[in-house]
Amino acid sequence: MKALVYNGPRDVSIKNVPDARIERATDVLVRITSSNICGSDLHMYEGRTAMQPGRILGHENLGEVIEVGPAVDRVKVGDRVCLPFNIGCGFCENCERGLSGFCLTCNPGTAGAAYGFAGMGPYSGGQAELLRVPYGDFNCLVLPRDAAEKENDYVMLSDVFPTGYHATELACVQPGQSVVIYGAGPVGLMAACASMIRGASQVFVVDTHKDRLKLAEKVGAIAIDGTEADGVEKIMELTGGKGADCGCECVGYQCCNMHREEVPNLTMNNLVKTVKATGKIGVVGVFIPEDPGAEDVLERRGQLAFDFGQFWLKGQRIGTGQANVKAYNRLLSRLIEHDRVQPSWIVSHELPLDQAPEAYENFDQRKNGWTKVVLKPGL
Ligand SMILES: NC(=O)c1ccc[n+]([C@@H]2O[C@H](COP(=O)([O-])OP(=O)(O)OC[C@H]3O[C@@H](n4cnc5c(N)ncnc54)[C@H](O)[C@@H]3O)[C@@H](O)[C@H]2O)c1
Ligand SMILES: [Zn+2]
Ligand SMILES: [Zn+2]
Repeated sequence: MKALVYNGPRDVSIKNVPDARIERATDVLVRITSSNICGSDLHMYEGRTAMQPGRILGHENLGEVIEVGPAVDRVKVGDRVCLPFNIGCGFCENCERGLSGFCLTCNPGTAGAAYGFAGMGPYSGGQAELLRVPYGDFNCLVLPRDAAEKENDYVMLSDVFPTGYHATELACVQPGQSVVIYGAGPVGLMAACASMIRGASQVFVVDTHKDRLKLAEKVGAIAIDGTEADGVEKIMELTGGKGADCGCECVGYQCCNMHREEVPNLTMNNLVKTVKATGKIGVVGVFIPEDPGAEDVLERRGQLAFDFGQFWLKGQRIGTGQANVKAYNRLLSRLIEHDRVQPSWIVSHELPLDQAPEAYENFDQRKNGWTKVVLKPGL
């Protein structure tokens, strides 16, 4: 089969590799029809993680089931399925509690597994013609009849829509509240959309990319073009000097200042400043335990110069981590089915798999207009 293979930093290519296949009785084999490129793929693409050359990327996958293992009961050949980026077993202590992002079975020694991801187990990604799905009955979300017609909406259930929603869940967004969201990438845009679903009264989205801020305005958010003091002042002004009721971090450790230089503590400290006293903060942007190639000494050790004193004084709370996609994807899919939301509003490019290397390059440079790429191995 054809697949997008990671060769080394900023070097990916389409190669012929052995077909994915059923390896265990509980596996499902999927012919991929859509697989997105994600901001998380860029951490690997840029060589900022310990990704082994030769591995296949792609954790935001949707496709058609073409074979099921003998122990699969629920999922059938021909079903169109969307796969959560996390791989869960369904029976460990964490999966049982709905925390499938922290499965204890699928990546022994660590909590959490994913497709095509550094440090998340040996599983191949879905930027390929075929994908092996472990524990298929647990992991496959079988899509309704309009699956083909709304494929670019449903594929967002694999990661960014539930992840944006998870940010608002960690931040406990309540009806009528104001929310400040750092990052207008796909995850931040989905957190804005999720805040609207939850009834927020004011949603501020902070970034410097005008094309992305425009997309935030399309769902009714207030765009804040400024990641430093100006942006902070604007939010304080718009919230009567108190700060927003709650906040979401949707950027991660590569967050930048206005000159596009990495300042790893910028978004976290801005959240402490712009969220009110006692407000809650949801952090889904990725911060990694070590980054040996980083310029910042603390960042190399996975540490941050965090304004803990202010945070403590304000009595704020933080929730962090990978989104437990399974906890939300079924209900969020109904919002798509009944035309309440259209997450495909963030899609900027729909490309055949062969064009994935150029797509990575453009998306990595955050070129104007490259918000979300959906790769179509069938095209
Ligand atoms: N927790 C999870 O389960 C999960 C799932 C998916 C993605 N992620 C992570 O979420 C983060 C965002 O993902 P994405 O796909 O939207 O990425 P992205 O890189 O496309 O978007 C990040 C955005 O943040 C903006 N930004 C940079 N510095 C900023 C600052 N100081 N203030 C405000 N905005 C700033 C960038 O301009 C960019 O538009 C990444 O760290 C990704 O790895 C986490
Ligand atoms: Zn992703
Ligand atoms: Zn598990």
